[in-house]
Amino acid sequence: MSSPMPFDFFAPCPRGLEAALAAELAEIGARHLAGAGTPPLEQGAQVPGGVHFRGGWAAGMAANLHSRIASRVLLKIAERPYRNEHDIYAFAAEQAWEKWFSANETLRVDLTAIKSPLRSLEFATLRVKDAVCDRLRSVSGARPSVDTAQPDVRVFAFLTASECTLYLDTSGDPLFKRGWRLDKGAAPLRENLAAGILRQTGWAPGTPLYDPMCGSGTFLAEAAQVALGIAPGVDRRFGFEKLKQYDIASWQALKVAAIDAKRAARASHPDDLLIFGSDISGDMLIKARANLERAGLPPLPLKQLDARAITPPSTMPGIIVANPPYGERIAVRGRGPRGETRERERDADEGFRRAQPDAADAEFFHAFGDALKQRFAGWRAFVLTADRKLPGQMRLRESTKTPLFNGALECRLFRFDLVAGSVKAARADKADDDAAKR
Ligand SMILES: C[S@@+](CC[C@H](N)C(=O)[O-])C[C@H]1O[C@@H](n2cnc3c(N)ncnc32)[C@H](O)[C@@H]1O
Repeated sequence: MSSPMPFDFFAPCPRGLEAALAAELAEIGARHLAGAGTPPLEQGAQVPGGVHFRGGWAAGMAANLHSRIASRVLLKIAERPYRNEHDIYAFAAEQAWEKWFSANETLRVDLTAIKSPLRSLEFATLRVKDAVCDRLRSVSGARPSVDTAQPDVRVFAFLTASECTLYLDTSGDPLFKRGWRLDKGAAPLRENLAAGILRQTGWAPGTPLYDPMCGSGTFLAEAAQVALGIAPGVDRRFGFEKLKQYDIASWQALKVAAIDAKRAARASHPDDLLIFGSDISGDMLIKARANLERAGLPPLPLKQLDARAITPPSTMPGIIVANPPYGERIAVRGRGPRGETRERERDADEGFRRAQPDAADAEFFHAFGDALKQRFAGWRAFVLTADRKLPGQMRLRESTKTPLFNGALECRLFRFDLVAGSVKAARADKADDDAAKR
């Protein structure tokens, strides 16, 4: 299908990143669709958890290929008021699903609801699934099978108190799956959350970027791909490729341009992207290196270091970004009783059951805060954590805190401006606070 008819799309994203996603979508429209002879990408409303936009197939496909922040791109099929499951079944059964896929494709239906009066959302989901299957059987004589793990086609239903919206997913696997992650690491950050945080920091290529608890390298890979102009989706496939109709000519043009850009980035042999990482765990650094390579990136300077011992990796001040361990384990690196180098994990017996930070964490964050204050004057540090007391533990006062959701976990992105003399300033702030409390 090559008709440039405009569609309504909805791009869900981690909560807290809606404005960042809207800005990114505007850039994608301007950079990848201008002059393409298709309708432009028109911004719609930002709502909690996503952004609406409008455009032709090319807009939906470009968002899939180039958005670092969206979790998916959903194509709106129809919207209608409902009162009960019967209305939802009838509404879903009326839609011409056969235009998009056949009974040979496997199907998965998901439903989310806000303030829906229905008693069982599970039952409502089943009714949507039945309606889609019954519709295909009535027009083709065959019912699609359900496959919840690796479906060919996904249908999403969204219920408010009175409206039901049906969407067809155009992404397939969620977009944070870039196709380069080899090993999950202990607690990797989702790629789209990392990319959204990078945008929130105001970082731009050419400014030094340092993640001192880089784990599997998510921030580093996202930043390096941005610096080199490598599209996040260049190495993966998308759900729309399985649909009966999409704009194949526009897709080929978009994909070829992305592959060429990746090739050009590799050929340019960039030797100094000013993107640095360190982690206490040598194993994590091995994973990070493998991930960077699979993401089509040149090797980046990575060091095995305790975050309390970090020093600036560049003379030019830049941006520190990190998501420290939370409710898990903070490793401690140092000299053992016989002078041997040791790397141990506290709380190994408690493992991941421990959910609240404790005194040892406080000690670690105090020392980490000191390292920033004493050695990183002129830098800005951004720390993502679910622990609201982190600035106090680091003995630093945040300049901003932005609520962000890491899955279901409500977090804050704290920003610290590390000015020369901030140790003194922080002490003075604390003295003021203490005086105010008295
Ligand atoms: C939540 S993970 C970070 C995940 C990372 N952003 C990613 O996407 O893979 C926290 C990281 O902190 C590291 N870490 C724990 N204690 C540390 C310490 N004392 N110094 C430096 N890194 C430490 C862990 O090895 C782990 O990789």
